[in-house]
Amino acid sequence: MTQELTGVKIADRVYWVGAVDREIRNFHGYLTSRGTTYNAFLVLADKITLIDTVKAPFYDELMARISSVIDPAKIDYIVSNHSEMDHTGCLPRVAAAVKPEKVFASQQGRAALGEHFGAGLEVVAVSDAQALDLGSDKLSFFETRMCHWPDSMVSYLHGPGVLFSQDAFGMHLASAERFDDELDASPLEHELAKYYANILMPLAAPIKKALAKLTGSGLDFKLVAPDHGPIWRRNFPRVLELYERWSGSRRTRKAVVVYDTMWQSTRKMAEAVGDGLTAGGATAVVMPLEGSHRSDVATEVLDAGALIVGSPTMNNQIFPTVADVMCYLQGLRPAGLIGAAFGSYGWSGEAAKLLSCMLDAMKVEQVAEPVRAKYVPSAEDLSACRELGAKVARRLTEAYPVRFATPPP
Ligand code: FEO
Repeated sequence: MTQELTGVKIADRVYWVGAVDREIRNFHGYLTSRGTTYNAFLVLADKITLIDTVKAPFYDELMARISSVIDPAKIDYIVSNHSEMDHTGCLPRVAAAVKPEKVFASQQGRAALGEHFGAGLEVVAVSDAQALDLGSDKLSFFETRMCHWPDSMVSYLHGPGVLFSQDAFGMHLASAERFDDELDASPLEHELAKYYANILMPLAAPIKKALAKLTGSGLDFKLVAPDHGPIWRRNFPRVLELYERWSGSRRTRKAVVVYDTMWQSTRKMAEAVGDGLTAGGATAVVMPLEGSHRSDVATEVLDAGALIVGSPTMNNQIFPTVADVMCYLQGLRPAGLIGAAFGSYGWSGEAAKLLSCMLDAMKVEQVAEPVRAKYVPSAEDLSACRELGAKVARRLTEAYPVRFATPPP
């Protein structure tokens, strides 16, 4: 049986017409365990307006959902809030089919769309705080540069009070439900944190600026409709609170110990580091890379106060999985971390020193020289690892007295 693809009414004369991608697991390096959605919205004002489109392979789904509401040829305007191709991949094809009067984007969005799709797609640039008259309603645009790309903007529909927030406040979560109050809050908060950690963490300063702009606007956000995941109808205040916390790099007395191992030696060292952390009053999250994805490590680092990294030396280098996660974390630029490095080796033992250099490059405050163990860690080596964990715990206690972001029930 073919699934019926219909638009979903989310407010008076506003419909969700996006696509659900349940199968995606790799979103440019981010493990999307619960799939995702590419949200697009149809506004049935006098000037019928489509807000964003979807990833190219989902063109038919978008058009089917629009067609369940209106004839797509009746669309007057298309607004592109963000030019990344998960939201614009099928924009040229939609524009060719619909022949809208105008396609709107921010100044930077106009340039980016031209660079993506060439001169065939005519785009009108709008400026910050500009309003677009839709006849029976009004749409206002607000630039939110670097949330997520330089072109990013959000649009606010005045009548029903809907903020179309593109990537901001979104998450990778495929579901049949369209609203936050139809879903369990716990996975929602986890996926919101994972999205922030993996997509938005390096952009804290522009996010703070965008939050100040939106909260200072005086607008009433009855619905907040991001381009991924559910629409916020009930709990947007909690989302704002979390974004304030994350963009402010508010950290806790939690240490992430991430490692990989060849012959269990670095694993034994990691466990000893974890024991030292716990004995010192910190929370230890020990993550073997055999089974932990880089994007899950980033999610744990989001509110952690410390990052401790372990690797065996292989061919004079860091173990490849550890190098991968460190390269990824370096790009996400977590601020204010305390840390340390450790690792086992057989001959020359470069890995722990190389990790220490990478932590320096990330501006991580290291509490001690790297701890290294030859072949198999001795009782003294494991004691040194416990002491390393304890040192990090002491420094964490000084720097970040809050143990848990959310106190246990
Ligand atoms: Fe969902 Fe930055 O694109």
